[in-house]
Amino acid sequence: MAERNPMTGMIDRATGGARLRRLRQSDWARRLVRETDVRVDDLIWPIFVREGDGGPEPVASMPGVSRLSVAGCVEAAREAADLGIPVIALFPYTDASLRDEAGSEALNADNLVCRATRAIKDVVPEVGILCDVALDPYTSHGHDGIVRDGVIVNDETVEILCRQALVQARAGCDIVGPSDMMDGRVACIRAALDAEGFGDAMIMSYAAKYASAFYGPFRDAVGSAGALRGDKRTYQMDMGNALEALREAAQDVAEGADMIMVKPGMPYLDILARLVDEFRMPTFAYQTSGEYSTIMAAAQNGWIDGDKAMFESLRAFKRAGASGILSYFAPRVAKALHRG
Ligand code: PBG
Repeated sequence: MAERNPMTGMIDRATGGARLRRLRQSDWARRLVRETDVRVDDLIWPIFVREGDGGPEPVASMPGVSRLSVAGCVEAAREAADLGIPVIALFPYTDASLRDEAGSEALNADNLVCRATRAIKDVVPEVGILCDVALDPYTSHGHDGIVRDGVIVNDETVEILCRQALVQARAGCDIVGPSDMMDGRVACIRAALDAEGFGDAMIMSYAAKYASAFYGPFRDAVGSAGALRGDKRTYQMDMGNALEALREAAQDVAEGADMIMVKPGMPYLDILARLVDEFRMPTFAYQTSGEYSTIMAAAQNGWIDGDKAMFESLRAFKRAGASGILSYFAPRVAKALHRG
């Protein structure tokens, strides 16, 4: 509707009468018309598990993040429950002596992730547990799959991943998250879970996972950084591609994924928005270790306001259409939201 410009008394052609700043004039007005916000219910908290029963072991490249003992994970799960964070995601720091070419420790029903899962489910059953399905924390070469003559072989890896998912489901894991980017793994994992009576176990597939520089600190945290031979570009996606993300997601959805994920998060908001639009599935963003540490490092130097940057980054995921976000900021955001 055209309105008269109060200064000139004329119909304002430049704005067509719209005065968009009217709704921004006060905090209450901004809150009233805000389209999206972050809620505690949107958060998934990634946690690193380690052997032994000592205290938290800080990850040097991730300020504020530590590797926790199994008992420490149970405490963190208690904290998640108290804060209202719905899900925690477990990642193991596997002892170098347990890593081999085939990633055999992934299939050990008593491995770190399984022990942590059982311990948490015993004490804090109301928190959901997400376990990563991929071999990289367990292989001596740091790849997510089996390597033959320098090639990461697909189908043989998928068979092992299915067994890994079963081992995790038996330990009590609620959601398995295949992060390996092998072709056809979602269908095989679904069939394996169903055949063993885990029809309720959910699959959150890393549908569009890019070969990214933003995973660096994570690889330090799980101890695969030094081990990794070469790079992951023959299975993780090429960062120039968007249409391919649609094909990747279509395949995972057709194979039975309950939820899909885009990773990394912030540099791939376009992909997130397109997948939400196309598939209308619960779609999650993974705010990776590199994104977290970038914000933390700048904040620690006093170059940006850490809390504001944290909220801005998380709101961006919601605005792009994310159902939720995996973020190392999860406990900090949840506490800030509770403070109001
Ligand atoms: C392993 C896996 C990775 C991350 C999650 N699962 C690393 C990788 O693919 O090399 C990265 C998470 C992060 O950077 O926070 N398949």
